[in-house]
Amino acid sequence: MSHDHDHGDDSLADLLDLDADVLSDYWTDALDLVHAAAGSAPGQRLVDLGAGTGTGALRLARLFPDADVIAVDASAEMLHRLREKAVEQGLAERITTVHADLDTGWPVPAPVDVTWASLSLHHLADPDRVLRDVHAATRPGGLIAVAEFPVQLRFLPDGDGAALETRLLEVLGRYQAERLPELGSDWRARLTAAGFMLLDERTFDIDLAPAPPAAADYAALWFGRLTHRLDDLDLTPADAAALTDLVTELRNGRTDLRVRGTRTVTLARP
Ligand SMILES: C[S@@+](CC[C@H](N)C(=O)[O-])C[C@H]1O[C@@H](n2cnc3c(N)ncnc32)[C@H](O)[C@@H]1O
Repeated sequence: MSHDHDHGDDSLADLLDLDADVLSDYWTDALDLVHAAAGSAPGQRLVDLGAGTGTGALRLARLFPDADVIAVDASAEMLHRLREKAVEQGLAERITTVHADLDTGWPVPAPVDVTWASLSLHHLADPDRVLRDVHAATRPGGLIAVAEFPVQLRFLPDGDGAALETRLLEVLGRYQAERLPELGSDWRARLTAAGFMLLDERTFDIDLAPAPPAAADYAALWFGRLTHRLDDLDLTPADAAALTDLVTELRNGRTDLRVRGTRTVTLARP
């Protein structure tokens, strides 16, 4: 299979929770954009496609107080965390979790008002088919919002660390080109091909310096996941050793991080 489902992947779930924490301003701005474009007619059905641990689904449920949110994911572990948070936050009655592999079919009854697909389409074997299914399920005047990242987040400040990070990202890019061929795709073109009309695309430039306290945990987990793939990554022995040292420093709470990156949110109507 050419795609990763990350079933039962605890560390990915932790990473998603840290993303919500460290990039909290981005999440607020991105979902405010979706809220403004969607309008707030009562009785809406919202879908969080590849919902992960629920950052989008929970925020959408708060932004649309009359809506039902359907959170779809192939990972039971992700959905379990999402449900726990929904209960804690008093949102459980309006959030339904659907454990489904989007590669095997469309699991949500029509009509759908708003679909939020954050960092999930690039995991799918056939995102074009899923986009066509979203299009068919979306009511006229509804909305799809696709959040993706044109570049990976970076954590290390300028200097030797940044040079190492650049080399690590190059090696990771080659690894992902085989595993996640849809990463970095032209989502505007694919939305249009599925029948959507583009409404807006917003680029969010992220530059957090000083980085929030949770950034060290985020970076430790992010780089730590690379150390588990050393057999598959084409790193020099020196860079593999430097990566291991870096993870130790981050776990000890490095405080000089600078979080940089870009997220895009593309909005379209059926
Ligand atoms: C990078 S995470 C993004 C999670 C969340 N949308 C966010 O932005 O925090 C990708 C999610 O897509 C899910 N996923 C991957 N392939 C899937 C598939 N075929 N069907 C349903 N979910 C899938 C994964 O389990 C994971 O939770």
